[in-house]
Amino acid sequence: MQELLSKQNLDYVERAREVAEKHVRPVAAELDRTGEYGWSILEALKTYGLTGLWIPKEYGGDGAGVLDLCLVVEQLSRACGGVGVAYAVNALGSFPIILGGTEEQKEKYLPGIAKGEKLIAFGLSEKASGSDAGSLRTLAVRDGDDWVINGDKKWTTNGGVAHLFTVYAVTRPDRGARGISAFMVERDHPGFRIGKREDTMGIRTVPVVELHFEDCRIPNAQLLGNQEGLGFKNAMMTLDRARPGVAGQALGLAQGAFEWALRYVSERQQFGQAVLSFQAIQFMLADMATQIEAARQLVYAAARAIDAGAKNVNKIAAMAKVFATDTAMKVTTDAVQLFGGYGYCKDYPIEKYMRDAKITQIYEGTNQVQRLVIGRAITRECAHLTEGLDVKIEHFPEVAAEMAATGT
Ligand code: CAA
Repeated sequence: MQELLSKQNLDYVERAREVAEKHVRPVAAELDRTGEYGWSILEALKTYGLTGLWIPKEYGGDGAGVLDLCLVVEQLSRACGGVGVAYAVNALGSFPIILGGTEEQKEKYLPGIAKGEKLIAFGLSEKASGSDAGSLRTLAVRDGDDWVINGDKKWTTNGGVAHLFTVYAVTRPDRGARGISAFMVERDHPGFRIGKREDTMGIRTVPVVELHFEDCRIPNAQLLGNQEGLGFKNAMMTLDRARPGVAGQALGLAQGAFEWALRYVSERQQFGQAVLSFQAIQFMLADMATQIEAARQLVYAAARAIDAGAKNVNKIAAMAKVFATDTAMKVTTDAVQLFGGYGYCKDYPIEKYMRDAKITQIYEGTNQVQRLVIGRAITRECAHLTEGLDVKIEHFPEVAAEMAATGT
């Protein structure tokens, strides 16, 4: 449904597709095997002018929207889900600055990210604080003109290569979520070090690491927005804008796996004919294609809502994330099935899609958390939606009669 995309959208799709085909696909299996970061891909992204897409123009970026971001992530992820997130996580790391940074912080950090010279990561989760993001233990204490941070972060995607980290820490332990603040931590700040790298199932090109803060002293100028206590809201608003990007990654993975599967069943001969000619296989492909298209429309709708400045975008962002990532898991699993025994082996690229897809149901808020966000939003809207309905049992006489007869 290219007709629904603008000229600008299509231009991004075209550029990203070219990067994916020329620079990502040829190295995807190698990056997966070695776990190396795609430095040559980063160079290509710079050449094609894609690194600063989501950064406002006044800070050296394109000033494009979340839809454009999703489109680029989708194209990259068609070729490699790890490369898709390696790109998207820079948006996740820089949205907090765009949303809540001071003018000085924006001027200091955003142009480098826009040029692709600086990579950034998002440090929220901890060993004991995952879904319950308000229960952070990393502590930042004010000391004169500085802050002293102590604690550890976990699951920091891109952390192994990032130059800059948006880090959330408790500054007022008595105030719950309102006692959390955000800080910009540079890789060489004393007392800060990168820890263990996770040996992940998929997205193996992106270094997912632990972060450690041992009396890490940073100047007050690194406090995001120069204001305490706004960290939790900043993180939530950031995730609302970044979750469609994960959905875009899932969409690309589903589309990429579907294309491989379609190609395989067109060539694979059994019982004297292409496997594609069997109705059982066509029905599987029909379901996969339908699920992908439904996910695509929801992801684009969520991104468009954010770009239009809609309020309370958490529900639609969560819906896009949950639907697209569940779709990716289903479609990539079915794609492995269509490859038969070969799908289960590393000889073909398809099993990687399934491994890469799994994490999309987990990070940037598990799909259980997304359902919680949707459920809470629906509950809030419920009174308005149902105010005209009368559910008293006497309005359903047949049911009431049956209940009376059976004594229930
Ligand atoms: N936008 C703005 N404000 C929001 C908000 C939103 N979307 N959601 C909540 N808030 C505000 C609330 O209004 C409330 O404000 P007040 O104190 O002024 O009333 C405050 O934040 C607390 O809100 P809740 O009581 O709703 O918070 P909660 O503790 O119940 O948590 C949650 C809600 C949705 C479960 C949240 O904790 C959450 O999203 N958890 C998942 C975290 C997550 O996604 N982690 C992944 C991190 S990134 C990653 O995976 C690694 C990586 O590198 C990719």
